[in-house]
Amino acid sequence: MKLFDVYPINNITITKALGSHVWDDLGIKYLDMYGGHAVISIGHTHPHWVERIEEQLRQIAFYSNSIKIPLQQELAKKLGEVSGKMDYQLFLCNSGAEANENALKLASFHNGRKKIVAFSKSFHGRTSLAVAATDNPKIVAPVNETGNVIFLPYNDEHALEQCFVENGNNISSVIIEAIQGVGGIIEATKSFLRKIRLLCNDYNAVYIADSVQDGYGRSGSFFAHDYAGVHADIYTMAKGMGNGFPIGGILIAPNIQPKHGMLGTTFGGNHLACAAALAVLEVIETEDLIEQAKQRGDDLLKRLATIEGINNVRGRGLMIGFDVPEELKDLRKNLLYNQHIFTGEAKPNVIRLLPSLALTKEQADEFMNAMEEEIAAPTLKGGAR
Ligand SMILES: Cc1ncc(COP(=O)(O)O)c(C=O)c1O
Repeated sequence: MKLFDVYPINNITITKALGSHVWDDLGIKYLDMYGGHAVISIGHTHPHWVERIEEQLRQIAFYSNSIKIPLQQELAKKLGEVSGKMDYQLFLCNSGAEANENALKLASFHNGRKKIVAFSKSFHGRTSLAVAATDNPKIVAPVNETGNVIFLPYNDEHALEQCFVENGNNISSVIIEAIQGVGGIIEATKSFLRKIRLLCNDYNAVYIADSVQDGYGRSGSFFAHDYAGVHADIYTMAKGMGNGFPIGGILIAPNIQPKHGMLGTTFGGNHLACAAALAVLEVIETEDLIEQAKQRGDDLLKRLATIEGINNVRGRGLMIGFDVPEELKDLRKNLLYNQHIFTGEAKPNVIRLLPSLALTKEQADEFMNAMEEEIAAPTLKGGAR
């Protein structure tokens, strides 16, 4: 049997990882400024994370949600402490799309409405509602098409207000990434996020903060929405939550009431996933990784802004993007094959940096030196492996 060929892949096989480094099957060491797509929060194979998972594996890995799983409660408590959202409720699932799917569905259960407001260049996942609220027709199958999603321009307060005036009593939820990831590291203005909060209050709509990519400390605060000083009604999380162990979840404001059977999942919240997620939060706390991400990010942003040849350096914490001009179109490939550095991309011409929150100063220096070298001599030397 062959694999269903849906991923354009690099011709590299990674066999080992530690911290912000990975090694391929030929023994070549790479600096990971991509974090396996913003997933690696505390660093690859962090010893505390490995130990926590190993220990749990020897006790029990899985049982269904039909019994008490105290680890879920432990995780909820820790998440409340680290995120500052102590009075929120936690529902656990397995991925970012599933988190958004549950959030959109819960909002609709909550206020009995159908319309969803989403924004240009959004990405919320590939399951039915999540993809319907994603601004990319290429990944929306005919069966996912729905008249229930209203797309508005990002950061356009007037359009948002107008939309509420026209449809306010039918709007169930507004879903937004505070920093769009797949869309190319585009930040919502504080005033836009505050406007969403106010309109959701006025019209009893649910504010959903898709924090799958920009959450979990990546932006230098636990949720990227925190910088606007607003509280969302539902935060969706995944990527950094398990540091590579698949887990997702939603944080739900106290006024949204649960009912038995309303949401559910077989695997969500299993013992092993909870152990992994607890290890992540413990490391974030003991190593002060959110503050570290903020400082490292500030430093990288400043230094990148001084580099001639790249444009529009932007982002927060360790969620950084910049535009690459046509004459440097091979920069990402060159960083990978010449300098052995993984970075992310956003179409058409953006390089995205999404490294572990534990990226060291030396590793940031290494990246900056490599950038300078590749921009000074932009030829593809090692590309054809
Ligand atoms: C903002 C955002 N939401 C949702 C998702 C979907 O997450 P998953 O791939 O875990 O389903 C992603 C994935 O890139 C994302 O960046």
